[in-house]
Amino acid sequence: VASASARKEDHIRLAADQRREDPAVKGHNEFDDLEFLHHALGGIDNATVDLTAQVGDWTWSAPLYINGMTGGAETAMRVNRALAIAARELNLPMASGSVGIAIDDPATAASFRVIREENPDGFVMANIGAGRPADHGQRAVDLLEANALQLHLNAVQETVMPEGGRDFADWLRGVERTVAATDVPVIVKEVGFGLSRRTLQQLQEVGVQIADVSGLGGTNFARIESARGGNAFAYLGNFGQSAAACLLDAPVAFPTLLASGGVRHPLDAIKALALGARAVGVAGPFLLPALEGTPETLTDEIRSWLDQLRMLHAMLGAATPADLTNTDLLVRGRVREFATLRGIDVAALSDRSGAR
Ligand code: FNR
Repeated sequence: VASASARKEDHIRLAADQRREDPAVKGHNEFDDLEFLHHALGGIDNATVDLTAQVGDWTWSAPLYINGMTGGAETAMRVNRALAIAARELNLPMASGSVGIAIDDPATAASFRVIREENPDGFVMANIGAGRPADHGQRAVDLLEANALQLHLNAVQETVMPEGGRDFADWLRGVERTVAATDVPVIVKEVGFGLSRRTLQQLQEVGVQIADVSGLGGTNFARIESARGGNAFAYLGNFGQSAAACLLDAPVAFPTLLASGGVRHPLDAIKALALGARAVGVAGPFLLPALEGTPETLTDEIRSWLDQLRMLHAMLGAATPADLTNTDLLVRGRVREFATLRGIDVAALSDRSGAR
């Protein structure tokens, strides 16, 4: 069994390979099943667009954040430094990878601390797994002086991971205890398999107000862990729900939804916002420029996402991210089929602007 630090190196390497090579990650995904109904006279002035996002009690400069990836290895230190510099330069929220490894082995803490050292005043989220003792969340927050805790639910990944956990029975109580033991808001997230309506209801019942559905279609840890473990679980390579499906499935009453998983470019992010996400997380697409380039080229890449997000708002006639929920959306293909199977009416989405 590999050391925890070697596992983190594997994750970075295999996630990067996946992004370069795996058609399931590079190619079509369920965001392609969502299309805006184009209104050729519907645009507004780019200068009037305000990208500010309301996320719970927080105001973020844009509806975009760097999602949790890494820490606990040599390459992780370099990746986290580049991501933290970009987050600082662009005033974007950023999450760490799971801090569990630094709680178990404090010698690896510096590869997480770099996130706060490079970005002393930024919005930082610490990350920890749901299988951990309740106080580990606060310990992760303390290490990063974090503004929020991301608590990840990754039963599919653990199942496929050779050295993964096998007991998922107590996770909901674990979430509840972590919420109670943590002095910053807890954001519960998946790691690329999606959060169902029932899961979101259960989370809300134990006091979780913010969740990142992190769905299928981008970085795929069933494939990554399967590759690490001799491909025994290759058949789980398409397991789970996409972010688009999750956003449609989510209970209307859920307070604050975030979306990630398979966001390849700014248009995918815009589609998630149009389905009600308050902000959109990106991991894999920022990993390659963080690994291969300089902090400056990574920053330029993410700045270009922000410029494009603003331009797409203007093109679609949305002055704010919230206005995107009044755009007319056509739901096709597998997402439409999912909605039908779940009894969700998507026809209404095609006539939200009142422009019919
Ligand atoms: C991740 N992700 C992740 N999530 C988490 O909650 N804790 C973690 O430690 C990690 N580690 C991790 C490492 C690497 C290298 C990648 C690329 C991703 C999952 C990530 O936050 C996100 O949920 C998924 O990657 C889906 O988003 P993308 O990659 O399709 O944008």
